Amino acid sequence: MLPAYIANPTAVVCGGGASIDFGRNFVDGKRILGDGKTYRGLAGGVICGTVLGIIQMNTSLAGRFGGFTLLAVFSLSFGALLGDMCKSFIKRRLGFKRGAKFMIADQLDFVIGAWILTYLLQGSWFIEHFTATTMVIILIITPVLHRITNLIGYHVKLKKEPW
Ligand code: CTP
Ligand code: MG
Repeated sequence: MLPAYIANPTAVVCGGGASIDFGRNFVDGKRILGDGKTYRGLAGGVICGTVLGIIQMNTSLAGRFGGFTLLAVFSLSFGALLGDMCKSFIKRRLGFKRGAKFMIADQLDFVIGAWILTYLLQGSWFIEHFTATTMVIILIITPVLHRITNLIGYHVKLKKEPW
């Protein structure tokens, strides 16, 4: 899960510039994704997550997670940020402003996105290594890790909100 975990905060650090929806509105007259989703954030997060995954692939972890491929680490990173974008799309449709708190979705969007994309692109590897127990543990630990990371991000002024 490390590539997915690292993609989120590095997107925050790298973010800025053109927004992914280029400022355009959806048919409901509200922004498609909003200013919180930028190309720089997306690219920075995917690159950092994938690079971390490549480092993992070259350590002893590689043996333990056999068949750990570049596609697997890319899908964990990109999937994480796709999940984050889907959540922003839903937030905008529900009328939440950029940065508004959206409990549970804000904490688990990237986990679900990473899992779905990795399942689609590296199905056999995913099924082999993500057991039900592992997934339950991840779902319990992630909101805690997410909260801690965002509190740090807020205090060092990288994030506008502590969630
Ligand atoms: N960010 C980015 N590009 C991304 C994801 C994040 O540039 N793909 C940056 C933005 O500066 C964003 C910040 O990271 O404001 C925090 O990310 P997040 O909490 O996901 O976005 P919010 O601003 O809260 O927007 P939303 O309400 O759409 O979740
Ligand atoms: Mg947010």
